[in-house]
Amino acid sequence: MLVGLQNVTFEFGARIIVEDATWHIQPNERIGLIGFNGTGKSTLLKVLVGQYAPSAGTLERGRETSIGYLHQDLLSFDTNESILQVALSAFEKVLQLEKEIEALGAELEKTGDEKTLIAYTDKLHELELLGGYNIQHKTEEVLQGLGFSNADLNRPYKEFSGGWRMRVLLAKMILAQPDLLLLDEPTNHLDLPSIEWLEKYLQHYQGAVVIVSHDKYFLNRMVTKIVELYQRQLHFYNGNYEFYEKEKAVRIEMQQKAFENQQDYIRQNERLVERFRAKASKAAMAQSIMKKLDKLDRIEDVAIERPDLRINFRVDKVPGRVIVELDQLSKAFGENVILKNAKAEIDRGDKIALIGANGKGKSTLLRIIADVESFSGNRKWGHNVDESFYAQHQLEALHLNNTILEEMRECGSQMTDLELRALLGCFLFSGDDTDKKIKILSGGEKARVALAKTIVSRANFLMLDEPTNHLDMHSVDLLIGALNKYEGTLILVSHDRHFIARTANKIWEIADGEIKEFKGPYDEWVAWNERMKKNKALQVKDEAPAKNKPGPVPEKPAVAAPPAAANTPINKELKKEVQRQQKLFQQTEEALNKNKTLLQQLEKDLAHPDLYSDKDRFVKTEQAYKTAVAENQQLEKKYEEVFTRLMQLEEEQ
Ligand SMILES: Nc1ncnc2c1ncn2[C@@H]1O[C@H](COP(=O)(O)OP(=O)(O)OP(=O)(O)O)[C@@H](O)[C@H]1O
Ligand SMILES: [Mg+2]
Repeated sequence: MLVGLQNVTFEFGARIIVEDATWHIQPNERIGLIGFNGTGKSTLLKVLVGQYAPSAGTLERGRETSIGYLHQDLLSFDTNESILQVALSAFEKVLQLEKEIEALGAELEKTGDEKTLIAYTDKLHELELLGGYNIQHKTEEVLQGLGFSNADLNRPYKEFSGGWRMRVLLAKMILAQPDLLLLDEPTNHLDLPSIEWLEKYLQHYQGAVVIVSHDKYFLNRMVTKIVELYQRQLHFYNGNYEFYEKEKAVRIEMQQKAFENQQDYIRQNERLVERFRAKASKAAMAQSIMKKLDKLDRIEDVAIERPDLRINFRVDKVPGRVIVELDQLSKAFGENVILKNAKAEIDRGDKIALIGANGKGKSTLLRIIADVESFSGNRKWGHNVDESFYAQHQLEALHLNNTILEEMRECGSQMTDLELRALLGCFLFSGDDTDKKIKILSGGEKARVALAKTIVSRANFLMLDEPTNHLDMHSVDLLIGALNKYEGTLILVSHDRHFIARTANKIWEIADGEIKEFKGPYDEWVAWNERMKKNKALQVKDEAPAKNKPGPVPEKPAVAAPPAAANTPINKELKKEVQRQQKLFQQTEEALNKNKTLLQQLEKDLAHPDLYSDKDRFVKTEQAYKTAVAENQQLEKKYEEVFTRLMQLEEEQ
């Protein structure tokens, strides 16, 4: 065992976080630690590393166990050192050795005595054993994997934004190769390529890993065991996230059945007691039944305790048709050109998701629009636009020593304390909670405060940079619901594909220094993008021989396209076939669109909190949704097939 909790209880004042928890972490285990926001996952990690002492029970730790711990909170570390130095500090022992070797070397030069020489060669040998000769190379490799350029490596750590700092700390931890990695929401600040890099890395990691995450795709690929912190207890599941979801449903159903059976049993016995009581001769029996009932271990009802945010974006006034016009927009960081004479327009009602291969460009464009980043070119605001910007740095800009209420007061709305408290109530801060200081809040709680601040503004144009970071999956769904109801305009950046697919009606892609607009939701963009790629591949195939072989191009078989054979039977057949396929293509497209509308409706229904109170309807809707998803997959496949067939036929014609 590496580390373990034995009957551990931990509490903040009167608030119990875990009660009587036992959990042993074994070598090489890959564990996902999950739970709603604020249940105490980060706290539990701090107990595991020994930062917090349990109030009851014991923390056990193998004598040799080394632990690497990545905080959720980025503000806890700052330095003037270069990022290469910060990452290199992972090799504490090697660095120490190097210093000693240097000192011994100097002494050797002076004295030349044999004892020093032996010590010197011993240390050199030790350095070699530790792999100390290529630490620089290894460090550079990991940093580059996480997206740093060579020029970045010598820049001071403190010059970097949150997301990049996170990568440095991640690199440092990865390099130290501890027996146990504790990662608190590592994907929050990373863009897709970095997440993919991290996934690959962790898949081959030799030690044990505990990951706190709200990202189910990530968890599914990364872990083989789930520990859920729920109602102050740890619940163990031997599988990935998908397994957890299924197994949890089964457990809930079993508990529900057991509960109902027990309730029946109790009612029967109570009726007996009623009847026996009336007769003096049976009074003793009634007594004994009552005693039996008292002793019964009561099974809890499965009231699913779920924090329901009530997010409601309001709009104060209606803006003109155009929200923002961008023209001749150029932006570069050194040699890295992000935009060059780009042009785009945001119209009222647009819900735009910014996507692009590399995170840098997206947030930069968002910041340019929000006027917190310099650029050249024109940006023109429309009439009556009230904007509000939600970004990672907004989270970091919360005043740590304020209470939640004070923080809300300072954002300049005209709301009274009473109104602010009511609003905070919607964000699950009730009663005394509003007097909590920002600095003790969990990641999700901080995100909720920042969201509440965004909402207070009643803006009609929202710019959201990674709004789902720190939010648990359920809260993300509620946010999706709220954004769908929002009557204003918005533009967002997110690495969460599920979130993008359900909020955006337009896609902006930054590529080749331009902003490329796609007027449709994300899944259509994906399908379109794939078709384009295939098309390109086909074209390349056609062109390739011509390019590669300058000699005479082999003639196509005469049957396929004889110039004078327009009316031959074969050609007629071909035409008919083309028509048939075209019709089929149209039909499939229609069916696909129809099914998409259905899917959207079902998704809307599923996002509605009321649905969950009606079990039958929920089950039905969920079933319908699953069927529609399957149908969608089939249709997509057919669509692709017909499309490919059509392409072939057109070539033959
Ligand atoms: N020092 C403290 N004193 C009092 N309460 C605290 C303190 N630190 C954290 N809390 C509270 O304990 C609860 C658990 O916090 P924790 O950060 O462990 O949650 P979490 O499960 O990691 O949540 P998230 O998913 O939002 O990151 C929160 O409600 C938080 O406000
Ligand atoms: Mg946390």
